[in-house]
Amino acid sequence: MIKQTIFGTTKDGKEVKEYTVENANGMSFSAIEFGAVIRKVFTKDKNGEIADVVLGFDSVQDYENDDTYLGAVVGRYANRIGNATFTLNGVEYKLDKNDNGNTLHGGIDGYDKRVWASESFADEKGEGVKFMLVSEDGDQSYPGKLEIAVKYTLTNDNELILEYTGMSDKDTICNLTNHSYFNLAGHDSGDVLNQLIWLNSDFITEADEQSITTGKLIDVKGTPMDFTTETAIGDRIDADYYQIKFGAGYDHNWVIKGYEKGKMNFIATLRDKASGRKMEVYTDLPGVQVYSGNFLKARIPGKNQAKYTRRTGVCFETQYYPDSINKPEFPSPILKAGEEYKTTTIYKFIV
Ligand code: GLA
Repeated sequence: MIKQTIFGTTKDGKEVKEYTVENANGMSFSAIEFGAVIRKVFTKDKNGEIADVVLGFDSVQDYENDDTYLGAVVGRYANRIGNATFTLNGVEYKLDKNDNGNTLHGGIDGYDKRVWASESFADEKGEGVKFMLVSEDGDQSYPGKLEIAVKYTLTNDNELILEYTGMSDKDTICNLTNHSYFNLAGHDSGDVLNQLIWLNSDFITEADEQSITTGKLIDVKGTPMDFTTETAIGDRIDADYYQIKFGAGYDHNWVIKGYEKGKMNFIATLRDKASGRKMEVYTDLPGVQVYSGNFLKARIPGKNQAKYTRRTGVCFETQYYPDSINKPEFPSPILKAGEEYKTTTIYKFIV
């Protein structure tokens, strides 16, 4: 079942639609045209109690003022580009320095701040909404007119499928991800430190003090970055380890085991023991930034006035590795002119 409503209006007077999609089990999600934001995800716990497990806001203005990317699609290039510079086909491109002299999540006017076009759909997999955006040649200083779409499908297996497609008229770089903050005890339940993570990964990409990858991989064995067995987020989050210090907690890219272009991998789980809720993450991308909300500080009240203080949500940002355009040894984020960009990430909810 799909319901479409008007969520609000931007400061420039653009109307923002919201879609709410519910499946046969009573699970639902809501998404808005602003930033292609996933605003709500209602799932049941072991007793059938429903809770909203993503952080979000109640007005367009809050999303316009937000700087934590709550639920949004970020682009053209998710995560960081070192020194806000890259070279493609011999041409150097200078981007916005919006993160300590580096580029974060595309730049100042990111895709998370745009009003996307939208349409609802129903197909053999389920029902959902498709958001579309045209990013002109030179937008945020990236080359090529890039036309992208992200399709959110809710299945009757309680999967939220995120399918990204795109095409550029010139060679460019493209790295799109969703920046949802999950809290399986409910968006307003406090920190996520007791929730457990498992990751199908033996390595992280080493980051420097500014969270720029160095090109080196670190074996997680024996470090607080090891989630090869399920571990509570809070157990080692303040450990005396240089990578943890650089990220002020978890804010790192894990290298997905068994990555092959186009192949879906089961990469992560998040579990809340008390409610019995569990989320499984699948993707065909090579990396995932696990970010434990270290910079959340409840600057803007959340849905129903919830206070999103530090570490009250955790993101699984599936992606090409940070700064991969400047690290030839990493899987390449280059999108050739006329070639299709196509990636899929799935968040599946179980109890
Ligand atoms: C990403 C980054 C973090 C932080 C958040 C937004 O996850 O890796 O360092 O910037 O976005 O607050």
